[in-house]
Amino acid sequence: MSAHGPAIPMISRKCGALTGTAEVPGDKSISHRALILGAMAVGETKIAGLLEGQDVLDTAKAMRAFGAEVTDHGAGRWSVHGVGVGGFAEPGTVIDCGNSGTGVRLIMGAMATSPIVATFTGDASLNKRPMARVTDPLALFGTQAYGRSGGRLPMTILGASDPVPVRYTTPVPSAQVKSAVLLAGLNAPGETVVIEREATRDHSERMLAGFGAELSVEDSADGRVITLKGQPELRPQEITVPRDPSSAAFPVCAALITEGSDVLVPTIGLNPTRAGLFTTLQEMGADLTFENLREEGGEPMADLRARFSPDLRGIEVPPERAASMIDEYPVLSVVAAFATGRTVMRGVKELRVKESDRIEAMASGLRLNGVTVEDGPDWWIVEGRGHGGVTGGAEVQSHLDHRIAMAFLILGMASTRPVTVDDGGPIATSFPIFEPLMSRLGAQIERL
Ligand code: S3P
Repeated sequence: MSAHGPAIPMISRKCGALTGTAEVPGDKSISHRALILGAMAVGETKIAGLLEGQDVLDTAKAMRAFGAEVTDHGAGRWSVHGVGVGGFAEPGTVIDCGNSGTGVRLIMGAMATSPIVATFTGDASLNKRPMARVTDPLALFGTQAYGRSGGRLPMTILGASDPVPVRYTTPVPSAQVKSAVLLAGLNAPGETVVIEREATRDHSERMLAGFGAELSVEDSADGRVITLKGQPELRPQEITVPRDPSSAAFPVCAALITEGSDVLVPTIGLNPTRAGLFTTLQEMGADLTFENLREEGGEPMADLRARFSPDLRGIEVPPERAASMIDEYPVLSVVAAFATGRTVMRGVKELRVKESDRIEAMASGLRLNGVTVEDGPDWWIVEGRGHGGVTGGAEVQSHLDHRIAMAFLILGMASTRPVTVDDGGPIATSFPIFEPLMSRLGAQIERL
């Protein structure tokens, strides 16, 4: 079974040049935040370009359960009539966040300082993932959490009735943890401070400021210090969600490894805390050009053109870049397989606790398809086989992980023999139009 239905086995065959425009869907991180902050504002927030992937739909449903009015107006236009900071109602049902770590962790933070009780669950992947990284700092506000052993879902959260502000240094580089603490800090009096040693995606900070919260960010010897003044009245916003660079990564990487390709991805978000993959690909010799660089709604964006790049070289990816490309390592490892030389990826322990253990999932699937991979607790190395050098031919498991499924379907596009994925169902969590979009560009991806 996949997250929301029976398994969908898929096959990807070697294809010709990819050409055309890839209108990838809205950014997943920004979409979750737009719904949650919209629900915490007083009045109506309007959202255009919302990602209508299952992860975000599950967050929309959750916001309704907490009392917000969330309306789908069609064609990616949504509105959220918020209940204000501290205005969440107690949900009458269990909150099912499906496959989404971002959804569950941010919503736990958002409700943690209201005097209500909520029980959270998810699919088999999410129910394995660590939640103590969020419930530990939430306990400092006075929030109580009762979950399964190891801090796993299903879990019941008792919001603090008399929350105190918190000063917290995140022990792992995680935007979800940072954001959960900031969202909880909204309904605590005084100043909540989050310190992160390594910068992670800063959409929460940008969007909180946009909604009118008093928030400052300073760089210090200890890292990035984010200070939020509690109990603001959030003002509703009009938000246009940029296209997701993490989804754009798939057609972009496919174009780089497929002969004759030339693909344009318009209006993609290029927030520097998200754009590490593109820097890495350029260092590997990728033919990428950024056109019409601009800023919209507080987020930088551009039109990105990717062309076939026959001379890709393996590189050592700087570990300090990991946070800005954390979701892109699966597809980077596919590009690395078609490069010459080794691609070394260090400082990536977090990959072990994503929707799947992404180092294990990619390493084992690449090996089955004829690529040599070494791995350790927080590193892995892919031995490139050069353009035309990957045999393929194997069936791999996606482990309920959308990015693993998509990465292997990209591998099949340039391998000698087709690559099969046991379940492409999870792709719908983040990139529901992946198959038609890739087919229009020229991919040969089919359901079995
Ligand atoms: C996300 C943060 C990252 C990322 C995830 C989305 C977010 O997770 O992997 O896909 O929207 O805050 P971590 O916070 O676990 O690094």
